Amino acid sequence: MRFTKIAAIAALALSSGAMAQQTVKIGFITSYSGLNGNLGPYMERAVRLYLKQHEKELGGVRVELLTRDDTGPNPDKARQLAQELVVRDKVNLLAGVIFTPNAMSIAPIATEAKVPFVIMNAGTAVITTRSPYIVRTSFTLWQSSYPLGQWAAKKYKTAYTLVSDFGPGWDSEDGFSKAFSDGGGKVLAKVRVPLQNPDWAAYMQRVKDARPDVLMVFIPAGKTATAVMKNFSELGLDKAGIKLIGPGDITTDEELPNMGDVALGVLTVHHYSAAATRPANKAFVEAWKKEYGQNETPNFVAVGAYDGAAIIVDAIHALKGNMDPDKLMAFFKTWKNPNSPRGPISIDPETRDIIQPEYLREVKRVNGQLANVELETLSAAEKDPWKEFQKKK
Ligand code: PHB
Repeated sequence: MRFTKIAAIAALALSSGAMAQQTVKIGFITSYSGLNGNLGPYMERAVRLYLKQHEKELGGVRVELLTRDDTGPNPDKARQLAQELVVRDKVNLLAGVIFTPNAMSIAPIATEAKVPFVIMNAGTAVITTRSPYIVRTSFTLWQSSYPLGQWAAKKYKTAYTLVSDFGPGWDSEDGFSKAFSDGGGKVLAKVRVPLQNPDWAAYMQRVKDARPDVLMVFIPAGKTATAVMKNFSELGLDKAGIKLIGPGDITTDEELPNMGDVALGVLTVHHYSAAATRPANKAFVEAWKKEYGQNETPNFVAVGAYDGAAIIVDAIHALKGNMDPDKLMAFFKTWKNPNSPRGPISIDPETRDIIQPEYLREVKRVNGQLANVELETLSAAEKDPWKEFQKKK
């Protein structure tokens, strides 16, 4: 009797001790400096907010974020950070990453070390094919640019494309051009501009001279979006009757206050707008303001990370803290959330990419502030079109 009681107490102490001790380590790589260094904090804040809101679901498992700055588009730095996090810090998961080249250089490490890698932004379609240990909770550029091209072909005859010269820019150009020309439109020119500090005035002058009905632009979100807007208007493209369109990166929510009225009327296609009136989004935006300040607003980077944290928390809950990489990947492939701030989303088990709605939006003034107002849902459940076309080949 006595013995069993002691044994029972010891067993209890052991199990609760084991519970309290379990820590899931996430190697979190994002951009806190360099080009678009303002985006990293959106990613980190979103993950921390989700973890705080859902702490109870973790069943006593502690989640530790090991945050690292990849300094912008810098694949060598990203590779080195991922290697250290895997080898020295023994992380259970890798996560984050704003930029495509960085995600590409981390992919082989995820494969070799069998460490699942949750991509929360980088949007070039091919990335997820580079490792079976990648799942992506953000978007692909084809997902926004292809429906944009389909929609534009019904309204306009000629287009000109201007994109940053790297993976997501090439995808945006390809996706838009294919849909626009398949829909009967004519692409007058496809121009690629350097990722860092392009001479926007010179490019905009060439667009003006070509006189397209629409100019389709992709640039990585952040300050570059405001530079595009300013040059578009300063060179008088709006007055020349040219319509500016693009994936939502060009009207990213956090830059709207810096853009001013030149952004009014710009039409974009994207999966997330902070101004969306879905209850799940209103709750998300409200929680964000409560946590980080009334003048702060989440953006599409934040929602990719918020849902990225959700997939991780749900996995820890479902697997009771068992971080076996193959079990994690199997779980990720079944994941869905009918109630994300962006609407119903799920992971495509075949590609490990997100399936999500795509909305047509217009920049309007709402309560005195510029907002991406959702006009219509162009696709309720868009799979990455690039991968759909690859399957047919
Ligand atoms: C990317 O590098 O994949 C990327 C960066 C910024 C964006 C979109 C995609 O706004």
